Amino acid sequence: MARSEAPRPFDPRRQRPPAYGGVETSVSVTTISPAKRVEGELRVPGDKSISHRALMVAAAGTGDCTIRGLGTARDVSSTLSVLRPLADVIGPDLPAVEVEGSASSGSSWEILVRGRTVGSWKNPGRTLDCGNSGTTIRTLLGLLAACDFQATLDGDESLRTRPMERIAEPLRRMGAAVSTTDAGTPPITIRGGQLQGVEHRLPVPSAQIKTALLFAGLHAEGETVVAGGGASRDHTERLLRYLGCSVDGSVDRLIVKSTHIQNVEVLDIPGDLSSAAFLLVAAALLPGSDLRVTGVGVNPTRAGILDVLRRFGARVDLEDGSEACGEPRATVRVRAGDRRALHIGAAGVPAMIDELPLVAILGAFADGETVIEGAAELRVKESDRIATTAAGLAALGVPVRTSPDGMVVTGNGRTGGGVVDSGGDHRIAMGFAVAGLAADAEVTIRGWDAVGVSYPSFASNLASILVPNG
Ligand code: S3P
Repeated sequence: MARSEAPRPFDPRRQRPPAYGGVETSVSVTTISPAKRVEGELRVPGDKSISHRALMVAAAGTGDCTIRGLGTARDVSSTLSVLRPLADVIGPDLPAVEVEGSASSGSSWEILVRGRTVGSWKNPGRTLDCGNSGTTIRTLLGLLAACDFQATLDGDESLRTRPMERIAEPLRRMGAAVSTTDAGTPPITIRGGQLQGVEHRLPVPSAQIKTALLFAGLHAEGETVVAGGGASRDHTERLLRYLGCSVDGSVDRLIVKSTHIQNVEVLDIPGDLSSAAFLLVAAALLPGSDLRVTGVGVNPTRAGILDVLRRFGARVDLEDGSEACGEPRATVRVRAGDRRALHIGAAGVPAMIDELPLVAILGAFADGETVIEGAAELRVKESDRIATTAAGLAALGVPVRTSPDGMVVTGNGRTGGGVVDSGGDHRIAMGFAVAGLAADAEVTIRGWDAVGVSYPSFASNLASILVPNG
């Protein structure tokens, strides 16, 4: 079970109150005790990636759009708060309302967006604070590139270390004036205007860059081609096609033309598989577990972790499959089984990029070497996830060797307890909470408040399915 220490005094640089009222912990240290198993059924909050896109696309379209099942992540709140002064369509008179469940049943949000196209967006008159959210800052740049005013975007300490030239450079080629710091990081200033369609080849298979360029391409003269997106998540292509926009071509060569976005009345967001993954991995690790997560997005470009769990030895079934807004969803059922070591190569990385710390943690509980390679992008996430994951595993007594693009974890079926630092990274904090459930002794996680970045109700969701020891 999770046990928390007294909250630290409120520190606005590390903790932001939720902009639309989500329940979240301000506790920065949590101790997790070994547990027997997880069982039962639950929902998780709406998908963070799709929530960002739905808010931005609806604000850039025309017509009223109700977004249901919006994620409660602090990152989604960042997108909402930067859109408010720009788009003037998600005003305080149209607050988000909680529509579903309590924290333990997986709350989500509903919001009405009055889209009026980027042509009517206005100079926000202040720096736009994107918080911890790489998706907010990078994808919003694609829309701001079409706006005839200057805007400055910034973020927290972690966001200020993340590479932005990968998006600034292609937007300059389309005609926007974009500046970053000498290190190529935020703050970023952009002045948009008339854009020209250009052929791009992405330096890394990143869905964030792809999305920004598709957004810019929708507002450019002529064709915009985005090649090299590889197997990165395709939520943007699906959403734009669902709204009737012209996005042609195949997964690795997309062609977009200037298109008016006509909003639909309702966009319904599936549950976040990247949040569910923590609970599903707990089910795979704890013998006797049987867990169902309902209504979760199972888009194949995101669902690599399900295949990993099968290869690890768990039984994974998809039940009650359906489709909404161009995205497949299902109930994912996981039952614990064997614990086998894993091998992840570059080709498998994009579909589980955010789950790779969990893959390493699974490896710690298997017998033998678990190898992750071709994952250099992990170095530039919310933390250097190769370093933070390896340090966490070492703190639990697990031998791990790192390389520039991956790591080798030598598991022997069990880990000790210990103290792990999240490095301010939500996925590291939750990943090691899951490790603590299966470890031989308590695991204490420092920097626990980071969890709210993607999954504020994680602790209560976990408590609702946990069968304690003894
Ligand atoms: C995201 C894409 C991924 C992922 C991030 C969310 C998105 O990043 O790691 O958490 O919503 O597009 P990259 O596109 O940089 O790989």
